[in-house]
Amino acid sequence: MAGGTISFARGAPSADILPHEQVREAAARALAEDWETALSYGVGIGHPGLCKWVAERHGHYDPAQVMITNGSLEAGAMLFAQMVRPGDRVVVEQPTYDRTLLLLKQLGAELVPVPLEADGLDVGALEAALAEGPIKLAHVIPNAHNPAGCTLSLEKRQRLVELAGEHGFWLFEDDPYRELPFEGEPLATMASLDHAGRVLHASSFSKTVSPGVRVGYIAGPEVEIAKLSKHANETYISPNMLAESIVLELCRSGELDRNIEFVKGELKARCEALVEALREQIPEAEFVVPQGGYFLWLDLAEGTDTVALLDEAKGEGVSFVAGPDFMIEGGENSLRLSFAPVPADQAAEGVRRIAAALERVRSGSPA
Ligand SMILES: Cc1ncc(COP(=O)(O)O)c(C=O)c1O
Repeated sequence: MAGGTISFARGAPSADILPHEQVREAAARALAEDWETALSYGVGIGHPGLCKWVAERHGHYDPAQVMITNGSLEAGAMLFAQMVRPGDRVVVEQPTYDRTLLLLKQLGAELVPVPLEADGLDVGALEAALAEGPIKLAHVIPNAHNPAGCTLSLEKRQRLVELAGEHGFWLFEDDPYRELPFEGEPLATMASLDHAGRVLHASSFSKTVSPGVRVGYIAGPEVEIAKLSKHANETYISPNMLAESIVLELCRSGELDRNIEFVKGELKARCEALVEALREQIPEAEFVVPQGGYFLWLDLAEGTDTVALLDEAKGEGVSFVAGPDFMIEGGENSLRLSFAPVPADQAAEGVRRIAAALERVRSGSPA
């Protein structure tokens, strides 16, 4: 097939938009100025300079309320292990990040599915779930949702924080895409609206620097962060101090903000090219146009089997992730396209291949 496989599957940018020169230079500066911290064991909470920088960036945290982790997935996994016991009812959006489902299932949680709307989680459905019994924790991805592409409205953020306070459940704001809106400033975090101390906020440098640096963080009530950092210290002593020192240097020097601007421009162009190609070539496809981030969630006609479509698509030289991977049940006629790895000039060809695979699956004449 011409030009190799076009993969819309991975939630990662293509290498051409990774800031390798900036990271190389930041690493040299970090090792010149911060080498002792960078090359030593640290403490469970992570690099103190980066805790402080993150606290100041948010504007409402004390550094003791921020713990730096080896990526934000690790933060989420540790939080779930700390808070969730077998049989606890945990709200998950539908669809949601596949690893969230995996981690919670491993802990024996009772998953309570709540559907997504174009402006994020269906709060009415969450209220109905609360009426049926106590909820331990709700996992919410507020910005540029993975996989759904939607962004939670400000009104819903306010209501969710109120509900968490009233009903005493934990709200886990899993927010790695916050800094990547295509236009304007990000909406207020639920953490910044929370006066009851029920929100744990996690974010990451995976999407603003690069996934390979493995630096993320979790912030929230100091008691909970202290328990998490004690556990971190007992498990791995400290997170990767060298990576954190480099990231801190990127933050302080302004390179992080410059890179965010650059990456947003690239992602926006990739997203627009994908949207245009879908409208032209697969007009039946229904989707919420992403306002930022990496992902677009596509609903195809009822009865379409996207697992079979994926098989066929691979033969055509294109891949994506089929909907059921993000669902407790259902999702058969949906799929996730990640535009982050696909340069704008390849989007139309990628969609052409998906359309060809769709036609083959429909005509019952697989390749
Ligand atoms: C919603 C969500 N949470 C967490 C993560 C994990 O990110 P990190 O690389 O910081 O571990 C991802 C990565 O794709 C994600 O989409």
